[in-house]
Amino acid sequence: MEVFVKVAKTSEIKLNGSVSIRTDNQFIAVGNNNGKYFAVSDICPHAGAPLGGGWIEDDCIVCPFHCWKFNVNTGECPHIEGEFLKVFEIKIEDEDIYVKIPKS
Ligand code: FES
Repeated sequence: MEVFVKVAKTSEIKLNGSVSIRTDNQFIAVGNNNGKYFAVSDICPHAGAPLGGGWIEDDCIVCPFHCWKFNVNTGECPHIEGEFLKVFEIKIEDEDIYVKIPKS
């Protein structure tokens, strides 16, 4: 079963930036892609670094460690076939961002 969990306020996420969020059972990077919010796994498939703090380019979050990119809508890595991130469903209510995660 999955539930929506409040993780941040929109004002806490800079335009074309991202932050790391911890819930009881998930590591999530929440970002702002030209005004559209998204949530993806906060564990980079390359070497496990957090993606929160990464910046946004061409609909991708860029890992701040070695600059691998992942599309924030599909999770796909555009330059390395077969590498991808989990993308979480989100919803915005007022100024609160909710992410759909497995119930702990
Ligand atoms: S840890 Fe993310 S690109 Fe290397």
